[in-house]
Amino acid sequence: LEQTFIMIKPDGVQRGLIGEVIGRFEKKGFYLKAMKLINVEKSFAEKHYADLSSKPFFGGLVEYIVSGPVVAMVWEGKQVVSTGRKLVGATNPLAAEPGTIRGDFAVDIGRNVIHGSDSVENARKEIALWFPEGIAEWRSNQHPWIYEV
Ligand code: GTP
Ligand code: MG
Repeated sequence: LEQTFIMIKPDGVQRGLIGEVIGRFEKKGFYLKAMKLINVEKSFAEKHYADLSSKPFFGGLVEYIVSGPVVAMVWEGKQVVSTGRKLVGATNPLAAEPGTIRGDFAVDIGRNVIHGSDSVENARKEIALWFPEGIAEWRSNQHPWIYEV
């Protein structure tokens, strides 16, 4: 099964949306394989968003990510990278469809509650960056009720 990196950003934590986000991924049928609430340093946030370092909003983005604790998670499931992005919704919350996390809970692009890996390759890199200690190995007993095996 595929894995993706999902992060609840500081605004999502402050606004009490941790349970809401986890609930949506759980109820979909994905498995939580790793999770921690942490404050990251500026250099770490810069590494996570290194691909965007030339963007004019990069400084503000890094300040946003270090402004409070985030919840870093690894989720596992069939096509969880692309489907996770669908649950997250469009980058600009005003363009995000209702029913998506950003569409339901956010307004500004610079306060869009959640991050999701945009490719299998980036998911692999992000999981290695955020969870160098490794991740849990487990599978739900409900597996055959969610996946046609
Ligand atoms: P992530 O899941 O956080 O990676 O978002 P994304 O993949 O939907 O968008 P992208 O990787 O292009 O940008 C990363 C983050 O930078 C976004 O989630 C926004 O928080 C922020 N961002 C992107 N574009 C803009 C912008 O034009 N202005 C501002 N202020 N922030 C932006
Ligand atoms: Mg991105």
